[in-house]
Amino acid sequence: MMKMATSKVWIRRMRVEDIPHVHEIDVASFTLPWPESSYRFEIEANPSAHLWVAEKENDQGQFEIVGMIVVWLIIDEAHIATFAVHPAHRRLGIGQRLLAQALLEMHRMGAQRYTLEVRRSNLAAQSLYRKFGFEVISVRPGYYRDNHEDALIMNLDHVDVPQVERLLHEEDETGSLSMRGGQP
Ligand SMILES: CC(C)(COP(=O)(O)OP(=O)(O)OC[C@H]1O[C@@H](n2cnc3c(N)ncnc32)[C@H](O)[C@@H]1OP(=O)(O)O)[C@@H](O)C(=O)NCCC(=O)NCCS
Repeated sequence: MMKMATSKVWIRRMRVEDIPHVHEIDVASFTLPWPESSYRFEIEANPSAHLWVAEKENDQGQFEIVGMIVVWLIIDEAHIATFAVHPAHRRLGIGQRLLAQALLEMHRMGAQRYTLEVRRSNLAAQSLYRKFGFEVISVRPGYYRDNHEDALIMNLDHVDVPQVERLLHEEDETGSLSMRGGQP
C-alpha cells in the first residue's frame, strides 16, 4: 500500500549528538525507555550494536529525528533491541523503512536469523513484523516488569531480499523517502 509522507525522510546511522532526540522518542513510545547512557554505550562501546535514525523534513525545511532502531548482531543472529517512531509521525511508512534498512544491512553482514521480543498487546508492531515474515516462536510469560505482560518472541529465519527491498522502497513512489548519500 502506498502512503503519503508529507515531506522528505532519510535513514542514516545514529550519532551521539542524536541521543537527546532519540530519548524523546523513546520516552514517548515506551513505559520502560532506555536511559540516554544506554544509547551512548551502544554507539561508543558496543561493536555488536548497529543503530539508525529516520530524519524527516519539517515545515521550516529542517530535519528532525522521528524514528530509531537498534539491532545487535551476535555472530549470525540479529536481535532487534529497540525500535520506535515518534507518535506524531506514525503510519507514514517510516517504521517499515527503518526495519527494512536494518534487516538488509544485517543480512549483508552475515545474519542468518533475526529475533525480537514484543508485548502481547502490541498489535501494531506485530503486524509490521509479520509483513517481513516474522513468526511467533515462543512466549515469555510476565516478561515486562512494569505490568507483567507476556513477551512474544518473534523469529525470522530468512530475509527475502527482493521483498524487503520492495518494502524499503515502497515509499519512493511518493518521492518522499530517500537514503541520504545512499549510505545505510
Ligand atoms: C511499531 C511502530 C515502530 C510502527 O511504526 P510506523 O512508522 O507507524 O509504521 P509504518 O507506518 O511503517 O507501518 C508499517 C506496517 O506496520 C503495521 N502497523 C503500523 N501501525 C499500525 C497500527 N496502529 N495498527 C495496525 N498495524 C499497524 C501495518 O502492518 C503497517 O503496514 P500497512 O500500512 O501496509 O498496514 C510504531 O507504532 C511505534 O513506534 N510503536 C511504539 C514503539 C513500539 O511498539 N516499538 C516496537 C517494540 S517491539
